[in-house]
Amino acid sequence: MPASGATGLILGIESSCDETAAAVVRHGAELLSSVVASQIAVHSSFGGVVPELASREHLRAIAPVVRQALADAKITIADVDAIAVTQGPGLPGALLVGISYAKALAFATNKTAIAVNHLEGHIHAVLLEQRQRGETALEAPLLALVVSGGHTHLYLAEEHHDTWSYKNVGRTRDDAAGEAFDKVAKLLGLGYPGGPVIEMLAKHGDPTAVRFGSVQIKHAARGTSKKRPELGHDRYVETHGLQGQIKVRTAELEKNPKPTEAELLALCDAKTLDLIASFQSGMVSDLVEKTLLAAAGFEASTLFVTGGVAANSALRKAFERECGRAGLAVSFPSRAMSTDNAAMIAAAAYPKFVAGLFAEEDFSAEASLALR
Ligand code: KG4
Ligand code: ZN
Repeated sequence: MPASGATGLILGIESSCDETAAAVVRHGAELLSSVVASQIAVHSSFGGVVPELASREHLRAIAPVVRQALADAKITIADVDAIAVTQGPGLPGALLVGISYAKALAFATNKTAIAVNHLEGHIHAVLLEQRQRGETALEAPLLALVVSGGHTHLYLAEEHHDTWSYKNVGRTRDDAAGEAFDKVAKLLGLGYPGGPVIEMLAKHGDPTAVRFGSVQIKHAARGTSKKRPELGHDRYVETHGLQGQIKVRTAELEKNPKPTEAELLALCDAKTLDLIASFQSGMVSDLVEKTLLAAAGFEASTLFVTGGVAANSALRKAFERECGRAGLAVSFPSRAMSTDNAAMIAAAAYPKFVAGLFAEEDFSAEASLALR
C-alpha cells in the first residue's frame, strides 16, 4: 500500500517520439490535467520524424509543458507522490530528454521516479478512461492490440493483485500500421502524419478500387486471380501517372501546411482518392481479421484497440461490427487518448507506485524496451 499521507497523484512525462507531454492523474483513475505539445509542424515537411529535431523540440517544450500540467491540475510538485516517465520504446535522444528532466525533478523535490513502458501506457489509456466512467469490471482474458507509428503488437494482459503483466502474442512482420499510413501519405505528397489525412480523404474514394495484398503491404501482392489492380508494386504511382499530381500537392502543402478538407480534395483526383480509400480499407480489414483470429485462438473475452491508429474511425467501426458478431467486448481510448499523451503514462505508473516498483537511480532510455 502507498505510504500514509499519499495523495495518489502521479505526474506523468512522455517524450518518446514527437509529442512532449505531461499530465497529472489521481489513483490511475482520475485525469486532472493533460498537456500535449505536438511537433507536427516541425517534422511535417520531412514526411516523418527527424530524431535530432525531435530532441531539440522536447528540450524546448519540456519545462513549460510540465509547469502547465501542474497548473491545470491546480497542484504544485510538492503534492505529487511520484514522477512517472516513459523509459522506452522510442527515439533514444527524445526519451533521454524526458528521463533526464524527470530524474532531475525527482531528485530536486525528493520524490521517487517510476519508469513506464510506452506500450503499457497505451493499454492503460483505455483503463484510465474506463475507471473515469466508473467501469471497473473487466472480463479476462484481455487481449490488447497496440497500433501506433512504431508498433503493431498484440498482448495478452493480466492483472494480479493490482500489478499487470503482459505477453506479446503477435506482431507485424513488416511496417507498423501507423508507419504504413505515414509512408503512403509521404509517397502521395500528403505530408506527415499520414493517418489523419488518409482518414479524411478515404471517405471520398472507392475502397474496392485497388487490391492490397494482405499484410504484405511492403511487398508485391501475391495471387493475381482478381482483376482489380494490385498495390504493393513499388511502381504503382509511376505506372498510374500519379507523379505530376504529387509534385503539385507537395508544393501546395509547403505553402499551406494545414489545408482544409476541401482544399485537399481539390488537389486529389479520383484515382488518388480510390488508392487512398483502398489502402485504408486494406489496413483495416487486415488488422481486424488478424486480431479476431488471435482473440478466438486465445479465447479472449475483452479486446482493447489502442495507439495512434486506433483514432481511425473506419478501424473502430470495423472492430465494433466484427467484435459484435464474435461476442467480444471491445474498447478504445477517446481519440485524444489514442495518440501519444502523458496521462496514459501516469495511469500505468499507479499500480507500480502502489506495489513500490520504483525506478533504479541510474535507469536510462531503452529504445527497444520490450513489454512484459
Ligand atoms: O501512438 P502514436 O501517437 O505514436 C507512437 O507511439 O508511434 O501513433 C502515431 C501514429 C502515426 O503513424 C499516425 O499516422 C497514426 O498514429 N495515426 C492515425 C490516425 N491518427 C494518427 N492512423 C490512422 N488514422 C488516424 N486517424
Ligand atoms: Zn505511442
